[in-house]
Amino acid sequence: MQRAFFVGGNWKMNMDSATAPELARAVAEGLAGVDAEVVVYPPFPYLTAVRDTLHATKSGVRLGGQNLSDELKGAFTGEVSGPMLKDCGCRSVLIGHSERRHVIGEDDEFINRKVLRAFETGLQVVLCVGETLEERESKQTNAVNERQLRHGLKGVPKAVLERLIIAYEPVWAIGTGKSATARDAQEAHGQIRLVLTEIFDEDAGRSTRVIYGGSVKAANAGELFAQPDIDGGLIGGASLDAEEFVAIVRAGGEKDAAA
Ligand code: PGA
Repeated sequence: MQRAFFVGGNWKMNMDSATAPELARAVAEGLAGVDAEVVVYPPFPYLTAVRDTLHATKSGVRLGGQNLSDELKGAFTGEVSGPMLKDCGCRSVLIGHSERRHVIGEDDEFINRKVLRAFETGLQVVLCVGETLEERESKQTNAVNERQLRHGLKGVPKAVLERLIIAYEPVWAIGTGKSATARDAQEAHGQIRLVLTEIFDEDAGRSTRVIYGGSVKAANAGELFAQPDIDGGLIGGASLDAEEFVAIVRAGGEKDAAA
């Protein structure tokens, strides 16, 4: 089966109340008529402004949250729940991003609770996995990805898998300008499919979307997206530049057209 091409724009802790809607508008206009699933992930305070802009431009670009609480409501100062994200217009959420794992200190078990909560809330989950440079150098890439997948997806029922996207993001490639080679990324994606097959079944391994993230630019997107097991990208720095981001999405549109 054909896996629909997906690109996420992870804005991280950037933009303000003026520039966030401006960026959303430029992305929406640049992608008018382009057939791809595109989700932007602005910081929480700008979600509703970006939602309104996407709505006003009649854009097919969707909205997502960069994080969510593992709880539904109550005394959790500073947290944002899945239902709140939905209420602000989000369809999707990033979970287990390497900055949350390695900078904020989230572990596999906590990430798993968030995954289950997000599915329960009806959100699409982009679960990020990937190895550090040290782990890569000691040849642990596949073992790390497998551990993060097995823990992160514990208790996830097969019925919700169509709302799951795995983002393979080698930590050493994020924000460094050093992307994985298309060959290395393809190999890791193939291994991720094998793990999904083991956890669920062959259909899950074949039909779940697996996207690549880490220093994707318009200049390297085409080669990465041309790999058979790479179904799109999660874009950080380059998603803050509408022209560059649109060019990245278009690089995948060519993949779909060729398929
Ligand atoms: P980058 O970030 O494109 O800036 O490397 C990717 C990500 O963190 O999702």
